[in-house]
Amino acid sequence: MNLRKENILIVDDDIDILELLQRHLQAMDYHTYKAVSVKEALFILKDTFIDLIITDIQMPEIDGLQLLKFANEHYPEIPKLVVTGYPSIEATLEVIKSGATDYLTKPFTKAELKEAIEKALTQNTFRKKTKSTPTTSDKYPYSDMVGESEAFKKVTNIIERVKDNKATVIVTGESGTGKELVARAIHYSGKFSREPFIAVNCAAIPENLQEAELFGYMKGAFTGATENRNGFFQAAKGGTLFLDEIGTASLAVQTKLLRALQEKEITRVGSQKIEKVDIRIIAATNANLRNEIKNNTFREDLFYRLTVVEINVPPLRERKSDIAILTEKFLRKYGIEFKDRLLRISPEALKVLERYNWPGNIRELENIIQRAVIMADGSIEVKDLPDFLKYQIEFSDNGLRPLIDIEKEYIQRVLAHTKGNKTRAAEILGIDRKTLREKLK
Ligand SMILES: Nc1ncnc2c1ncn2[C@@H]1O[C@H](COP(=O)(O)OP(=O)(O)OP(=O)(O)O)[C@@H](O)[C@H]1O
Ligand SMILES: [Mg+2]
Repeated sequence: MNLRKENILIVDDDIDILELLQRHLQAMDYHTYKAVSVKEALFILKDTFIDLIITDIQMPEIDGLQLLKFANEHYPEIPKLVVTGYPSIEATLEVIKSGATDYLTKPFTKAELKEAIEKALTQNTFRKKTKSTPTTSDKYPYSDMVGESEAFKKVTNIIERVKDNKATVIVTGESGTGKELVARAIHYSGKFSREPFIAVNCAAIPENLQEAELFGYMKGAFTGATENRNGFFQAAKGGTLFLDEIGTASLAVQTKLLRALQEKEITRVGSQKIEKVDIRIIAATNANLRNEIKNNTFREDLFYRLTVVEINVPPLRERKSDIAILTEKFLRKYGIEFKDRLLRISPEALKVLERYNWPGNIRELENIIQRAVIMADGSIEVKDLPDFLKYQIEFSDNGLRPLIDIEKEYIQRVLAHTKGNKTRAAEILGIDRKTLREKLK
């Protein structure tokens, strides 16, 4: 074997693809490691010096995006290459955001593969060279999370207290305030950071599949269960399971979850056998669970179990002193991504940002900075910001407007934020769908 050649980890649930890739790579003299699941890949990453990860996106149990996120946090210097059979714009965006260097669509030719690998590997040496420039993350221990306000410090104080133990935590707060980031900060700043962090969005799993996805199942447990399968609980073993939008968990899942929290044990669907679980659970919600208890859609006993430690992430409008530092962070991020350099913002433009109310919180700020970076010629000026931010100034300076106008404008903004999803919009607005529909008329 040629020692100069790099170690490449290939991850795909399709054995045929794995073997095809391996044949190609060996022909190019690379040393290969194969994994048929993300879990297997994690084990290899722990024990092996890997120079490049090539992964599929769509895989059962844990998908490739989770692997990319994990690898970006633990092994940021390893380049990643994504191969997938399902190209879609949305998936591509997610991949780019997750830091994958390139994207290859199946079927691909050997030459395309070779080119993509060489490109990814040279990017690696580039990264190593530029790594020593100080970034905001040196100043802030919680990877990507920045803030200096009192309200933000309250959040980091609790993170400090929970990061090294396995106490259950619930993270609450409006949409876009950074709940998922808080969960990641707890995991990655604590002493279990080398163990898996698995994020599951309960709202994204159909109710009838939730139990099987979370707790695993036995062959024959239901139609379609053709083999024994691990769930997210088994996958997160030793680490953290992040249950996002916990308010949408089915009642069957809630019952099992309560048992997992109280007795530290679970059973797979279709099995009587008790399995001990050793994981930390972090749940998150932007819904008011107390209302859901009243409606009998959320178990009260589970609520009390989950809320022993609650981290309430404050909305951006209550920590406006963080706007400048967040803006600086996003300018750095998108400046480098889109313009290859650091951009500045004029004091006037920053003032506009600081006056605005931020119903979509940090996510909205991030989107606006991203857009401004793309629109701006040099530094970010007031003209590079969307009009509705500026109207807000006009409004506060010189005029009173009828409530209905403001309501209309606000509903449209929330709808834009949820990309037209009315259920989500109604949730944010705190009204039911029917009322929203009437208002839209
Ligand atoms: N303190 C922070 N510093 C830097 N970036 C942040 C911070 N908080 C949030 N962000 C960024 O804002 C965006 C939204 O954060 P996140 O997804 O964690 O919000 P969320 O509360 O989970 O939202 P939702 O309820 O809609 O799921 C992400 O891109 C995240 O990186
Ligand atoms: Mg979230």
